[in-house]
Amino acid sequence: MTGQVAFGKNYFPREKDEKRIWRRLNHGSHLLLLAPRRVGKTSLLRNLELAPNDNYVFLYNIVQSCSTVHEYYERIIENLFKSEFINRLNKFTNWRKEALADFRGSIKGINFSEAGIEFESQERTLTHKDLKTLLDKIQIKEKLIIVIDEFPDVLEKIHREQGHGAAELFLSGCRELWQDPALDQKIQFIFTGSIGLDSLVHKLNLSDLINVLINVTINPLNEDKALEFIDFINKKSDEEITFSEEIKSYILNKVSWYMPYYIEILLLSIEDYCCENEIIEPNPHDIDKAYEQLFSQNYLTSFNHWAERLERLEKIEITFAHQVLNYIAANKTISPQKIHNIKEAPQVTAVNSKYVIDCLIHDGYIFETEDKEYQFTSPMLKEWWGRYASI
Ligand SMILES: Nc1ncnc2c1ncn2[C@@H]1O[C@H](COP(=O)(O)OP(=O)(O)OP(=O)(O)O)[C@@H](O)[C@H]1O
Ligand SMILES: [Mg+2]
Repeated sequence: MTGQVAFGKNYFPREKDEKRIWRRLNHGSHLLLLAPRRVGKTSLLRNLELAPNDNYVFLYNIVQSCSTVHEYYERIIENLFKSEFINRLNKFTNWRKEALADFRGSIKGINFSEAGIEFESQERTLTHKDLKTLLDKIQIKEKLIIVIDEFPDVLEKIHREQGHGAAELFLSGCRELWQDPALDQKIQFIFTGSIGLDSLVHKLNLSDLINVLINVTINPLNEDKALEFIDFINKKSDEEITFSEEIKSYILNKVSWYMPYYIEILLLSIEDYCCENEIIEPNPHDIDKAYEQLFSQNYLTSFNHWAERLERLEKIEITFAHQVLNYIAANKTISPQKIHNIKEAPQVTAVNSKYVIDCLIHDGYIFETEDKEYQFTSPMLKEWWGRYASI
């Protein structure tokens, strides 16, 4: 289903990206997977988890809702204790009951039940040291890959709610785990999320704390793969719609940035349009109509993600982002000089413009062209912004 993490048979393999990640993991690096919103990070990582290479076992954590260091480690530790992961570990270790009890009992001041972690006292809060205690107990020859999805959200929340010192402390704790020689032998981390962690830490002046992480990314599909993806989605549908090669190219031309999500939302609209008008073989005119339909009220939720992302910025940053995007929607591209001019206006002079531009790039709104100008990643997004989001 569009919008959900694509799992198992719904997952369209992205071999090049997967292989690149495996190569980096084989080097023993901790990874930072940076790619804009909706590009397919979670789907890709969850599919690596489902079918890992030999000698690897995955623990996936989504930490978006965690707003303190304690909640962050509670989430990971709880997932480590959960039976699904223990079963996976058991395949390698053959842990008997006592070993399992020892593992669960290794952190002082907490008990674990199926309902979750219970704390012996209210003052007991979890830190990276507790996670280390637990990880030290795991004796397997396989590498454990700990995936942390939406990591930058946690850092941003800790910073917003508890200040710079707390954010720094949180990152130093994480770094201690990455740099622990004993853990290094058996654990690797993959951090991912939709806010650019690099621009966030840069803004917070904490870049040196994450410099051990190796950046990886996810690329758009190439044309051949994008054509294959159209067939992949079409095959899953119960409707009998056929696309000629010309029409497939016509569809891709509309999408322009070949990310599965964009292709999929257009295909969904095409399917609706064809079914409602009893069309089996759509022509370019039908595709145009379906494209137009994407911007009608019923389909607009496909674009909500982008609007929501801007809401997390500070007020002045939002104003600036709107002005930049409005300009690009009207003029196709924006030059650094023009960005500079926008920043001159009294209501936005104080804005950290580089940070906002970085956020727009990371959120998948815009990219930098060869001429060093910025442009919307997809004409679909440009169209949507021009009609509905500009104020
Ligand atoms: N490999 C894939 N196969 C099939 N569909 C995909 C694939 N990758 C992405 N998609 C489509 O794109 C959507 C977004 O994917 P996913 O949630 O994995 O992206 P994300 O980068 O984690 O997004 P977010 O930043 O919002 O968390 C999915 O719901 C699915 O429709
Ligand atoms: Mg995701």
